[in-house]
Amino acid sequence: MEGSTNQDLEQAHPLSPAGLIIRQKEPTNLEMPFDQLDSYLTPTELFYIRSHFPAPKIDAADYQLRIDGAVRNPLALSYKELREMPSETRTATLECAGNGRVFLVPQVRGAQWELGAVGNAEWTGVPLRALLERAGLEGDACEVVFEGADRGTPTEEPIPPGLISYARSVPREKAFQPEVLIAYQMNGRDLSRDHGYPMRAIVPGHYGMASVKWLTRIQAVRQPFQGYWQTSDYGYWEYLDGKPVRRAIAEMKLKSAIARPRVYETLLPNQTYTVFGAAWAGETDVTEIAVSTDGGRTWAEGHFLDPVGRHAWRRWKFDWLTPTEPGRHTLLARAKDANGTVQPDGHNPNYGTYVINHPLPIEVLVEESVRPERRGSLSEPR
Ligand code: MTE
Repeated sequence: MEGSTNQDLEQAHPLSPAGLIIRQKEPTNLEMPFDQLDSYLTPTELFYIRSHFPAPKIDAADYQLRIDGAVRNPLALSYKELREMPSETRTATLECAGNGRVFLVPQVRGAQWELGAVGNAEWTGVPLRALLERAGLEGDACEVVFEGADRGTPTEEPIPPGLISYARSVPREKAFQPEVLIAYQMNGRDLSRDHGYPMRAIVPGHYGMASVKWLTRIQAVRQPFQGYWQTSDYGYWEYLDGKPVRRAIAEMKLKSAIARPRVYETLLPNQTYTVFGAAWAGETDVTEIAVSTDGGRTWAEGHFLDPVGRHAWRRWKFDWLTPTEPGRHTLLARAKDANGTVQPDGHNPNYGTYVINHPLPIEVLVEESVRPERRGSLSEPR
């Protein structure tokens, strides 16, 4: 099990007016302080924001979504036309593929996300399938590429010259799944600018980078798309016959995270403390949660607070009777999915600085006197 020695976890970070941790001011990159996890749906104002370039300002009255490439009837739809189409509402967890990066030892480059680059929201929009059927997707189209209106110079090598847009593809099979939406609402309200107003893709089950914001083009392609955001960045190494091949990171991996207690929180001895968190998986269901309070030597079963919901997280809790003696303890949570898979013991280096889905250690202190501001919740999760 990897330890957490990064000083970064201990440092105070500036907060946005809504109380999000500021990872970067411009472009806006904000993280939810994960100890504030409470409700099943993450309030929009607490939902993390991950943007590579400044958010474009798009007027809904001028907005057009082009659907072209390997389709029989290329078309462009206005915001009004999309809003008038039959819509669906789905709950889906989005997690940034770099969430938890601060736990990697030794420290790696990139935004030092702690636990809160993840959120669960209700998304409303037009099923992508309806649009692809209307455009008449060609039989030999293998992927659809989503392209956003934002442009800039990215940071991961190799970097193409000039400004580029943010673009990601999804395989044909996924594109036709009913959960994939071209969304215009989040938690029952029109998307905010930072979350992709006026339209964004929502690809439940895939890491957040597949859910392209400020979506202006859907292009069907006949060859797998090898764009910057799935090769230079957000790619991983798959070994084919011993030879590394660059692939796009796509489905979210099974993961659980402890929201409370916080890292380095001080707890009272000999008290029942309710450890609280959430667990999620990509294209399967989370079925079990185990918690260790001794650094992974022993595990006990936790209890889910939410039913199984494909593509949505399940919050869970575990009542821990804290030790009578003062000391330092490492808490871990480990989920199991419907296929019998459990979270791995450590980070897989083939994913570079992404896909950090091993149990992340939360070190706490058990001490007689607890400074009031560091005292965690000893009650049921709020
Ligand atoms: N779409 C565009 N156009 N530009 C971006 O920078 N960031 C992606 C994705 N969609 C991004 C984007 C990444 S990396 C993530 S994790 C999610 O948006 C974050 O969505 P959110 O900011 O609504 O939480």
